[in-house]
Amino acid sequence: MKSITVQPASSVKGEIIVPGDKSISHRSIMLGAIANGVTTVRGFLRGEDNMATMSAFRAMGVRIEDDGETVTIYGQGLHGLKEPTDIVDCGNSGTSIRLLTGLLAGQSFFSVVTGDQYLRKRPMKRVVEPLVRMGARIMGRDKGTLAPLAITGGALNAIGYESPVSSAQVKSAIMLAGLYADGETSVREPTLSRDHSERMFRLFGASLEVFKNGVTVRGGTELTGQEIGVPGDISSAAFFMVAALITPGSELLISNVGINPTRTGIIDILRSMGGSLELLHEREVSGEPVADILVRSSRLKGIQISGDVVPRAIDEFPVICVAAACAEGRTTVRDAKELRVKETDRIAAMAANLRTLGVAVEECDDGMDIVGTERLGGGAVESCGDHRIAMSLAVASLVAQGEVSIRDVECVATSFPSFFPLLDQVAGR
Ligand code: S3P
Repeated sequence: MKSITVQPASSVKGEIIVPGDKSISHRSIMLGAIANGVTTVRGFLRGEDNMATMSAFRAMGVRIEDDGETVTIYGQGLHGLKEPTDIVDCGNSGTSIRLLTGLLAGQSFFSVVTGDQYLRKRPMKRVVEPLVRMGARIMGRDKGTLAPLAITGGALNAIGYESPVSSAQVKSAIMLAGLYADGETSVREPTLSRDHSERMFRLFGASLEVFKNGVTVRGGTELTGQEIGVPGDISSAAFFMVAALITPGSELLISNVGINPTRTGIIDILRSMGGSLELLHEREVSGEPVADILVRSSRLKGIQISGDVVPRAIDEFPVICVAAACAEGRTTVRDAKELRVKETDRIAAMAANLRTLGVAVEECDDGMDIVGTERLGGGAVESCGDHRIAMSLAVASLVAQGEVSIRDVECVATSFPSFFPLLDQVAGR
Protein backbone atom coordinates (compact mmCIF):
# COMPACT_ATOMS: atom_id res chain seq x y z
CA MET A 1 0.00 0.00 0.00
CA LYS A 2 1.40 3.33 -1.06
CA SER A 3 1.76 6.24 1.39
CA ILE A 4 2.26 9.84 0.40
CA THR A 5 3.47 12.93 2.24
CA VAL A 6 2.02 16.20 1.00
CA GLN A 7 4.07 19.29 1.84
CA PRO A 8 2.40 22.52 3.01
CA ALA A 9 1.68 25.11 0.31
CA SER A 10 2.40 28.83 0.54
CA SER A 11 -0.60 29.49 -1.77
CA VAL A 12 -2.86 27.76 -4.29
CA LYS A 13 -2.89 29.53 -7.63
CA GLY A 14 -3.62 29.22 -11.33
CA GLU A 15 -6.25 28.01 -13.72
CA ILE A 16 -7.20 24.34 -13.87
CA ILE A 17 -9.75 21.99 -15.32
CA VAL A 18 -10.82 18.92 -13.40
CA PRO A 19 -11.71 15.56 -15.02
CA GLY A 20 -15.21 14.77 -16.26
CA ASP A 21 -18.20 14.13 -14.03
CA LYS A 22 -18.25 10.56 -12.75
CA SER A 23 -22.04 10.24 -12.53
CA ILE A 24 -22.62 11.62 -16.03
CA SER A 25 -19.81 9.46 -17.48
CA HIS A 26 -21.41 6.25 -16.11
CA ARG A 27 -24.80 7.18 -17.48
CA SER A 28 -23.44 8.09 -20.93
CA ILE A 29 -22.10 4.53 -21.38
CA MET A 30 -25.23 2.88 -20.03
CA LEU A 31 -27.74 4.83 -22.12
CA GLY A 32 -25.43 4.83 -25.16
CA ALA A 33 -25.26 1.03 -24.97
CA ILE A 34 -29.04 0.51 -25.01
CA ALA A 35 -29.82 3.29 -27.49
CA ASN A 36 -30.21 2.86 -31.24
CA GLY A 37 -27.29 4.29 -33.19
CA VAL A 38 -23.98 5.77 -32.15
CA THR A 39 -23.26 7.86 -29.03
CA THR A 40 -20.11 9.95 -28.73
CA VAL A 41 -18.84 11.19 -25.38
CA ARG A 42 -16.26 13.93 -24.93
CA GLY A 43 -14.82 14.70 -21.50
CA PHE A 44 -15.45 11.12 -20.32
CA LEU A 45 -13.84 10.38 -16.94
CA ARG A 46 -11.26 7.61 -17.32
CA GLY A 47 -11.21 6.71 -13.62
CA GLU A 48 -11.37 3.10 -12.46
CA ASP A 49 -15.07 3.33 -11.57
CA ASN A 50 -16.10 4.42 -15.06
CA MET A 51 -13.74 1.94 -16.71
CA ALA A 52 -15.56 -0.79 -14.73
CA THR A 53 -18.83 0.33 -16.33
CA MET A 54 -17.19 0.37 -19.76
CA SER A 55 -15.85 -3.19 -19.29
CA ALA A 56 -19.25 -4.40 -18.12
CA PHE A 57 -20.91 -3.26 -21.35
CA ARG A 58 -18.12 -4.62 -23.51
CA ALA A 59 -18.71 -7.94 -21.72
CA MET A 60 -22.35 -7.68 -22.84
CA GLY A 61 -21.34 -7.40 -26.49
CA VAL A 62 -21.31 -3.61 -26.88
CA ARG A 63 -18.59 -2.18 -29.13
CA ILE A 64 -17.01 0.80 -27.36
CA GLU A 65 -14.00 2.65 -28.81
CA ASP A 66 -11.82 5.18 -27.03
CA ASP A 67 -9.27 7.24 -28.97
CA GLY A 68 -8.21 9.11 -25.83
CA GLU A 69 -10.40 12.08 -26.67
CA THR A 70 -13.81 10.73 -27.65
CA VAL A 71 -15.51 7.58 -26.43
CA THR A 72 -17.76 6.06 -29.11
CA ILE A 73 -20.48 3.62 -28.14
CA TYR A 74 -22.26 1.57 -30.79
CA GLY A 75 -25.73 1.22 -29.29
CA GLN A 76 -27.45 -2.19 -29.39
CA GLY A 77 -31.01 -0.99 -28.82
CA LEU A 78 -33.12 -1.72 -25.73
CA HIS A 79 -33.03 -5.49 -26.26
CA GLY A 80 -29.59 -5.97 -27.85
CA LEU A 81 -27.36 -6.70 -24.83
CA LYS A 82 -25.85 -10.21 -24.65
CA GLU A 83 -25.48 -12.48 -21.64
CA PRO A 84 -21.99 -11.92 -20.16
CA THR A 85 -19.89 -15.10 -20.11
CA ASP A 86 -18.33 -14.28 -16.73
CA ILE A 87 -19.01 -12.42 -13.49
CA VAL A 88 -19.18 -8.64 -13.99
CA ASP A 89 -16.70 -6.96 -11.62
CA CYS A 90 -17.68 -3.40 -10.67
CA GLY A 91 -14.54 -2.82 -8.59
CA ASN A 92 -15.16 -0.05 -6.04
CA SER A 93 -18.07 1.51 -7.89
CA GLY A 94 -21.45 1.74 -6.16
CA THR A 95 -22.92 3.52 -9.16
CA SER A 96 -21.83 0.74 -11.52
CA ILE A 97 -23.24 -2.10 -9.44
CA ARG A 98 -26.52 -0.47 -8.43
CA LEU A 99 -27.43 1.01 -11.82
CA LEU A 100 -26.35 -2.17 -13.62
CA THR A 101 -28.50 -4.27 -11.31
CA GLY A 102 -31.50 -2.16 -12.37
CA LEU A 103 -30.66 -2.51 -16.05
CA LEU A 104 -29.91 -6.25 -15.77
CA ALA A 105 -33.24 -6.84 -14.05
CA GLY A 106 -34.89 -6.08 -17.40
CA GLN A 107 -32.70 -8.38 -19.54
CA SER A 108 -33.83 -11.85 -20.55
CA PHE A 109 -30.57 -13.44 -19.43
CA PHE A 110 -28.60 -14.41 -16.32
CA SER A 111 -25.80 -12.29 -14.88
CA VAL A 112 -23.71 -11.97 -11.73
CA VAL A 113 -22.34 -8.64 -10.48
CA THR A 114 -19.78 -8.12 -7.76
CA GLY A 115 -17.10 -5.70 -6.57
CA ASP A 116 -14.06 -5.21 -4.36
CA GLN A 117 -13.84 -5.84 -0.59
CA TYR A 118 -15.41 -2.42 0.13
CA LEU A 119 -18.28 -2.68 -2.37
CA ARG A 120 -19.14 -6.16 -1.12
CA LYS A 121 -19.91 -4.63 2.29
CA ARG A 122 -22.23 -1.90 0.98
CA PRO A 123 -26.03 -2.26 1.19
CA MET A 124 -27.73 -3.61 -1.94
CA LYS A 125 -31.17 -4.25 -0.43
CA ARG A 126 -32.11 -0.70 -1.39
CA VAL A 127 -32.07 -1.71 -5.08
CA VAL A 128 -32.82 -5.42 -4.78
CA GLU A 129 -36.09 -4.90 -2.91
CA PRO A 130 -37.83 -2.64 -5.48
CA LEU A 131 -36.45 -4.66 -8.41
CA VAL A 132 -37.80 -7.89 -6.93
CA ARG A 133 -41.14 -6.13 -6.56
CA MET A 134 -40.97 -5.40 -10.28
CA GLY A 135 -40.56 -9.15 -10.93
CA ALA A 136 -36.78 -9.65 -11.18
CA ARG A 137 -35.21 -12.69 -9.49
CA ILE A 138 -32.12 -11.59 -7.56
CA MET A 139 -30.07 -13.68 -5.15
CA GLY A 140 -27.14 -12.54 -3.08
CA ARG A 141 -25.28 -12.99 0.17
CA ASP A 142 -27.05 -12.19 3.43
CA LYS A 143 -30.57 -12.80 2.07
CA GLY A 144 -29.91 -10.91 -1.15
CA THR A 145 -28.65 -7.75 0.51
CA LEU A 146 -24.91 -8.00 -0.32
CA ALA A 147 -22.93 -8.58 -3.51
CA PRO A 148 -22.19 -10.80 -5.36
CA LEU A 149 -25.72 -10.58 -6.77
CA ALA A 150 -27.06 -13.14 -9.24
CA ILE A 151 -29.79 -11.69 -11.45
CA THR A 152 -32.30 -13.47 -13.62
CA GLY A 153 -34.05 -10.71 -15.47
CA GLY A 154 -37.03 -10.66 -17.78
CA ALA A 155 -40.38 -9.01 -18.26
CA LEU A 156 -41.00 -6.52 -15.44
CA ASN A 157 -44.11 -4.93 -13.95
CA ALA A 158 -44.27 -1.18 -13.46
CA ILE A 159 -44.37 -0.06 -9.82
CA GLY A 160 -44.84 3.15 -7.85
CA TYR A 161 -41.96 3.20 -5.37
CA GLU A 162 -41.50 5.42 -2.31
CA SER A 163 -37.79 5.22 -1.60
CA PRO A 164 -36.89 5.46 2.10
CA VAL A 165 -33.53 7.07 1.18
CA SER A 166 -32.67 10.00 -1.08
CA SER A 167 -30.38 8.13 -3.45
CA ALA A 168 -29.70 8.76 -7.12
CA GLN A 169 -28.39 5.23 -7.42
CA VAL A 170 -31.68 3.75 -6.20
CA LYS A 171 -33.74 6.14 -8.32
CA SER A 172 -31.64 5.45 -11.43
CA ALA A 173 -31.67 1.66 -10.97
CA ILE A 174 -35.48 1.74 -10.89
CA MET A 175 -35.63 4.16 -13.85
CA LEU A 176 -33.43 1.82 -15.92
CA ALA A 177 -35.59 -1.17 -14.98
CA GLY A 178 -38.62 0.99 -15.78
CA LEU A 179 -37.49 1.18 -19.42
CA TYR A 180 -38.22 -2.57 -19.58
CA ALA A 181 -41.46 -2.56 -17.56
CA ASP A 182 -44.96 -2.80 -18.80
CA GLY A 183 -46.47 0.64 -18.11
CA GLU A 184 -45.36 3.61 -16.02
CA THR A 185 -42.81 3.21 -13.23
CA SER A 186 -42.51 6.00 -10.63
CA VAL A 187 -39.95 6.66 -7.90
CA ARG A 188 -40.34 9.27 -5.20
CA GLU A 189 -37.61 10.11 -2.68
CA PRO A 190 -37.65 12.09 0.59
CA THR A 191 -35.60 14.94 -0.95
CA LEU A 192 -34.39 15.22 -4.51
CA SER A 193 -31.06 13.47 -5.19
CA ARG A 194 -28.88 14.28 -8.22
CA ASP A 195 -30.99 14.32 -11.37
CA HIS A 196 -28.44 13.41 -14.06
CA SER A 197 -30.46 10.33 -15.04
CA GLU A 198 -33.62 12.37 -15.57
CA ARG A 199 -31.70 14.85 -17.76
CA MET A 200 -29.93 12.19 -19.79
CA PHE A 201 -33.01 10.00 -20.23
CA ARG A 202 -34.74 13.05 -21.72
CA LEU A 203 -31.76 13.79 -23.99
CA PHE A 204 -31.90 10.22 -25.36
CA GLY A 205 -35.64 10.53 -26.04
CA ALA A 206 -37.04 8.42 -23.18
CA SER A 207 -40.62 9.04 -22.21
CA LEU A 208 -40.50 10.53 -18.71
CA GLU A 209 -42.12 13.06 -16.45
CA VAL A 210 -40.54 14.66 -13.41
CA PHE A 211 -42.57 15.76 -10.40
CA LYS A 212 -41.63 17.03 -6.93
CA ASN A 213 -38.94 14.70 -5.59
CA GLY A 214 -39.76 12.06 -8.15
CA VAL A 215 -39.94 10.80 -11.71
CA THR A 216 -42.14 8.58 -13.87
CA VAL A 217 -40.70 6.53 -16.75
CA ARG A 218 -42.80 4.83 -19.43
CA GLY A 219 -41.47 1.43 -20.49
CA GLY A 220 -40.76 0.33 -24.05
CA THR A 221 -39.70 3.64 -25.61
CA GLU A 222 -36.58 3.22 -27.78
CA LEU A 223 -33.66 5.58 -27.13
CA THR A 224 -31.56 7.39 -29.74
CA GLY A 225 -27.75 7.81 -29.60
CA GLN A 226 -26.46 11.31 -28.78
CA GLU A 227 -23.36 13.48 -28.82
CA ILE A 228 -22.53 14.18 -25.19
CA GLY A 229 -20.15 16.68 -23.61
CA VAL A 230 -19.34 15.81 -19.99
CA PRO A 231 -18.56 18.80 -17.73
CA GLY A 232 -15.87 18.73 -15.04
CA ASP A 233 -16.96 16.96 -11.84
CA ILE A 234 -17.98 19.40 -9.09
CA SER A 235 -17.07 16.68 -6.58
CA SER A 236 -13.48 16.74 -7.88
CA ALA A 237 -13.47 20.54 -8.07
CA ALA A 238 -14.53 20.60 -4.40
CA PHE A 239 -11.05 19.52 -3.21
CA PHE A 240 -9.51 22.47 -5.03
CA MET A 241 -12.21 24.88 -3.82
CA VAL A 242 -11.40 24.03 -0.21
CA ALA A 243 -7.63 24.01 -0.91
CA ALA A 244 -7.83 27.59 -2.24
CA LEU A 245 -10.17 28.78 0.54
CA ILE A 246 -8.03 27.55 3.45
CA THR A 247 -4.56 28.38 2.04
CA PRO A 248 -3.81 32.08 2.58
CA GLY A 249 -2.98 34.21 -0.49
CA SER A 250 -4.75 31.87 -2.94
CA GLU A 251 -6.72 32.56 -6.10
CA LEU A 252 -7.79 29.67 -8.31
CA LEU A 253 -9.97 29.47 -11.42
CA ILE A 254 -11.56 26.06 -11.98
CA SER A 255 -12.97 26.01 -15.52
CA ASN A 256 -15.83 24.00 -17.02
CA VAL A 257 -17.42 22.62 -13.84
CA GLY A 258 -20.93 21.10 -13.76
CA ILE A 259 -23.20 23.20 -11.55
CA ASN A 260 -26.37 21.10 -11.66
CA PRO A 261 -28.48 22.47 -8.75
CA THR A 262 -28.78 18.97 -7.26
CA ARG A 263 -24.95 18.99 -6.84
CA THR A 264 -24.16 22.55 -5.76
CA GLY A 265 -24.67 22.03 -2.02
CA ILE A 266 -20.89 22.39 -1.67
CA ILE A 267 -20.99 25.93 -3.06
CA ASP A 268 -23.91 26.89 -0.80
CA ILE A 269 -22.18 25.42 2.26
CA LEU A 270 -18.79 27.02 1.58
CA ARG A 271 -20.42 30.38 0.89
CA SER A 272 -22.36 30.14 4.18
CA MET A 273 -19.02 29.53 5.89
CA GLY A 274 -17.79 32.82 4.41
CA GLY A 275 -15.98 31.40 1.37
CA SER A 276 -15.44 33.56 -1.70
CA LEU A 277 -16.65 31.58 -4.73
CA GLU A 278 -17.74 33.31 -7.93
CA LEU A 279 -19.54 31.57 -10.80
CA LEU A 280 -18.48 32.91 -14.21
CA HIS A 281 -19.69 32.25 -17.79
CA GLU A 282 -22.70 30.16 -16.83
CA ARG A 283 -23.83 28.03 -19.79
CA GLU A 284 -25.51 24.72 -20.68
CA VAL A 285 -23.84 21.62 -22.19
CA SER A 286 -25.79 18.43 -23.07
CA GLY A 287 -28.67 19.44 -20.81
CA GLU A 288 -26.42 20.20 -17.81
CA PRO A 289 -25.53 23.67 -16.42
CA VAL A 290 -21.81 24.50 -16.42
CA ALA A 291 -19.67 27.42 -15.15
CA ASP A 292 -16.13 28.47 -14.33
CA ILE A 293 -15.55 28.92 -10.59
CA LEU A 294 -13.20 31.54 -9.18
CA VAL A 295 -12.13 30.84 -5.60
CA ARG A 296 -10.16 33.15 -3.30
CA SER A 297 -8.79 32.34 0.15
CA SER A 298 -11.23 33.36 2.87
CA ARG A 299 -11.63 33.34 6.64
CA LEU A 300 -14.14 30.58 7.23
CA LYS A 301 -16.55 30.28 10.15
CA GLY A 302 -18.35 27.26 11.57
CA ILE A 303 -22.00 26.67 10.56
CA GLN A 304 -24.84 24.18 11.03
CA ILE A 305 -25.42 21.80 8.11
CA SER A 306 -28.58 19.66 7.92
CA GLY A 307 -31.73 18.99 5.88
CA ASP A 308 -32.17 19.29 2.11
CA VAL A 309 -28.63 20.53 1.42
CA VAL A 310 -27.17 17.21 2.62
CA PRO A 311 -28.03 15.08 -0.47
CA ARG A 312 -26.94 18.04 -2.64
CA ALA A 313 -23.42 17.79 -1.14
CA ILE A 314 -23.34 14.12 -0.16
CA ASP A 315 -19.95 13.27 -1.69
CA GLU A 316 -18.30 16.46 -0.42
CA PHE A 317 -18.56 15.88 3.34
CA PRO A 318 -14.99 14.60 3.76
CA VAL A 319 -13.62 17.84 2.34
CA ILE A 320 -16.29 19.92 4.12
CA CYS A 321 -14.88 18.40 7.33
CA VAL A 322 -11.47 19.81 6.36
CA ALA A 323 -12.97 23.27 5.74
CA ALA A 324 -14.70 22.99 9.15
CA ALA A 325 -11.42 22.00 10.83
CA CYS A 326 -9.87 25.25 9.52
CA ALA A 327 -12.88 27.46 10.32
CA GLU A 328 -13.43 29.63 13.36
CA GLY A 329 -15.89 27.99 15.78
CA ARG A 330 -18.01 24.87 15.65
CA THR A 331 -19.52 23.20 12.57
CA THR A 332 -22.32 20.70 13.10
CA VAL A 333 -23.37 18.13 10.51
CA ARG A 334 -26.70 16.29 10.91
CA ASP A 335 -29.11 14.23 8.72
CA ALA A 336 -26.05 12.69 7.08
CA LYS A 337 -26.37 9.04 8.13
CA GLU A 338 -25.83 7.98 4.49
CA LEU A 339 -22.15 8.89 4.99
CA ARG A 340 -21.85 5.71 7.06
CA VAL A 341 -22.51 3.51 3.98
CA LYS A 342 -20.30 5.19 1.41
CA GLU A 343 -16.98 3.74 0.14
CA THR A 344 -16.16 3.62 3.86
CA ASP A 345 -17.93 4.99 6.96
CA ARG A 346 -17.00 8.59 6.20
CA ILE A 347 -18.15 9.95 9.58
CA ALA A 348 -15.91 7.56 11.51
CA ALA A 349 -13.02 7.90 9.05
CA MET A 350 -12.94 11.71 9.07
CA ALA A 351 -13.47 11.91 12.83
CA ALA A 352 -10.49 9.59 13.49
CA ASN A 353 -8.21 11.30 10.96
CA LEU A 354 -9.02 14.84 12.10
CA ARG A 355 -8.37 13.82 15.71
CA THR A 356 -4.95 12.55 14.62
CA LEU A 357 -4.31 16.06 13.25
CA GLY A 358 -5.30 17.60 16.58
CA VAL A 359 -8.89 18.63 15.83
CA ALA A 360 -11.70 18.23 18.38
CA VAL A 361 -14.44 16.10 16.79
CA GLU A 362 -17.54 14.48 18.29
CA GLU A 363 -19.39 11.84 16.31
CA CYS A 364 -23.11 11.15 16.44
CA ASP A 365 -25.23 8.63 14.60
CA ASP A 366 -26.09 10.92 11.67
CA GLY A 367 -23.25 13.43 11.68
CA MET A 368 -20.56 15.12 13.72
CA ASP A 369 -19.42 18.29 15.45
CA ILE A 370 -16.06 19.75 14.48
CA VAL A 371 -14.34 22.56 16.37
CA GLY A 372 -12.07 24.54 14.06
CA THR A 373 -8.45 25.25 14.91
CA GLU A 374 -5.80 27.67 13.67
CA ARG A 375 -3.13 25.01 13.87
CA LEU A 376 -3.71 21.66 12.19
CA GLY A 377 -1.01 19.29 13.37
CA GLY A 378 0.82 16.53 11.51
CA GLY A 379 0.59 12.75 11.83
CA ALA A 380 -0.05 9.47 10.03
CA VAL A 381 -3.59 9.31 8.61
CA GLU A 382 -5.55 6.61 6.77
CA SER A 383 -7.61 6.74 3.56
CA CYS A 384 -9.49 3.57 4.62
CA GLY A 385 -9.42 2.69 0.90
CA ASP A 386 -11.72 5.63 0.14
CA HIS A 387 -10.66 8.03 -2.63
CA ARG A 388 -12.46 11.05 -1.18
CA ILE A 389 -10.95 10.54 2.28
CA ALA A 390 -7.45 10.35 0.73
CA MET A 391 -7.94 13.55 -1.29
CA SER A 392 -9.51 15.44 1.61
CA LEU A 393 -6.54 14.59 3.82
CA ALA A 394 -4.17 15.81 1.10
CA VAL A 395 -6.01 19.14 1.12
CA ALA A 396 -5.67 19.34 4.91
CA SER A 397 -1.92 18.70 4.55
CA LEU A 398 -1.54 21.98 2.62
CA VAL A 399 -2.08 23.95 5.83
CA ALA A 400 -0.84 21.48 8.47
CA GLN A 401 2.01 22.61 10.73
CA GLY A 402 3.58 19.16 10.91
CA GLU A 403 4.21 16.47 8.32
CA VAL A 404 1.09 14.52 7.27
CA SER A 405 1.61 11.07 5.82
CA ILE A 406 -1.45 9.55 4.12
CA ARG A 407 -1.61 5.77 3.90
CA ASP A 408 -3.18 3.78 1.05
CA VAL A 409 -3.59 6.49 -1.59
CA GLU A 410 -3.91 4.31 -4.71
CA CYS A 411 -7.68 4.59 -4.30
CA VAL A 412 -7.70 8.15 -5.72
CA ALA A 413 -7.55 6.45 -9.15
CA THR A 414 -11.20 5.43 -8.81
CA SER A 415 -12.39 8.97 -9.52
CA PHE A 416 -9.40 11.32 -10.03
CA PRO A 417 -6.20 9.68 -11.35
CA SER A 418 -4.49 13.07 -11.96
CA PHE A 419 -5.25 14.46 -8.48
CA PHE A 420 -1.75 14.56 -6.95
CA PRO A 421 0.04 16.08 -9.98
CA LEU A 422 -2.71 18.73 -10.20
CA LEU A 423 -2.37 19.51 -6.49
CA ASP A 424 1.40 19.93 -6.97
CA GLN A 425 0.76 22.22 -9.93
CA VAL A 426 -1.53 24.63 -8.05
CA ALA A 427 0.78 24.58 -5.04
CA GLY A 428 3.58 25.81 -7.35
CA ARG A 429 5.70 22.63 -7.06
C1 S3P B 1 -24.15 8.69 -7.36
C2 S3P B 1 -25.03 8.85 -6.34
C3 S3P B 1 -24.63 9.05 -4.94
C4 S3P B 1 -23.17 9.43 -4.82
C5 S3P B 1 -22.29 8.60 -5.69
C6 S3P B 1 -22.69 8.73 -7.15
C7 S3P B 1 -24.67 8.49 -8.74
O1 S3P B 1 -24.83 7.86 -4.22
O2 S3P B 1 -22.76 9.33 -3.48
O3 S3P B 1 -20.92 8.99 -5.57
O4 S3P B 1 -23.91 8.62 -9.72
O5 S3P B 1 -25.86 8.19 -8.87
P1 S3P B 1 -26.25 7.50 -3.52
O6 S3P B 1 -27.23 7.27 -4.58
O7 S3P B 1 -25.94 6.26 -2.74
O8 S3P B 1 -26.58 8.66 -2.65
